[in-house]
Amino acid sequence: MTYQRLYVNIDHVATVRQARRSVDPDPVAAAVLCERAGADGITAHLREDRRHIQDADVLRLASTITTVLNLECAATEEMLDLAERLRPFTVTLVPERREEVTTEGGLDVVRGAAGLRLAIERLKRVGVKSSLFVDADAETIRRSADLGVDAIELHTGPYAHAPLEPRTLAALAESASLAVSLGLRVHAGHGLSIGNVRPVAAIPEIEELNIGHAIVGRALFVGIGDAVREIRREMTRARGE
Ligand code: PXP
Repeated sequence: MTYQRLYVNIDHVATVRQARRSVDPDPVAAAVLCERAGADGITAHLREDRRHIQDADVLRLASTITTVLNLECAATEEMLDLAERLRPFTVTLVPERREEVTTEGGLDVVRGAAGLRLAIERLKRVGVKSSLFVDADAETIRRSADLGVDAIELHTGPYAHAPLEPRTLAALAESASLAVSLGLRVHAGHGLSIGNVRPVAAIPEIEELNIGHAIVGRALFVGIGDAVREIRREMTRARGE
């Protein structure tokens, strides 16, 4: 099976810092440690309400990390302006609601089609790869492909909440296969952990996993380097590498 990339979402380090509006812990320093431990990329979500990652973090990440930056954001004018200036490796467009604790569902690619299409075009024009965070649903995948996006990130939350419910995993596998047949690259993420990552990592079409909360939580006990290495090991085993 092909190598599967691990991107570490370091928002949760910033969440701890923002609890005190302090300078520590620094998500950029954490990102560097993740890279040293084998992360293939760093993901950061700049939310409209700036509840964790701040604009200055994104700028420092872009100039510090030696892998690649996946900027997660809503398809708003403000975020697209920033993406055009910064030109991260990838932008993953996500839905955003102020009241949510974390991203709760995939994008509405039907109602949001016009705005998403425009955002994808703007990103393409400046050489930034685009990805859409979507639910594992056939119609959603087809509509995403119609928008001209490079990749989709499958929302693994439903699987993570009910890993023993066979339908949740089957939906991910079927969606991944459909997406590839439509010319899309496939990423996945949300709620993945050392305990549930293997079956998702074993889906051959999924090239990349984005994992945050479980790694940062585990880092309190074993350090962030080992937390990354543990997940990496599970992914490697799952793919029989
Ligand atoms: N992918 C997307 C689009 C997300 O919004 C998040 C949460 O920040 C993740 C992946 C990572 O999820 P988790 O923190 O549960 O690992």
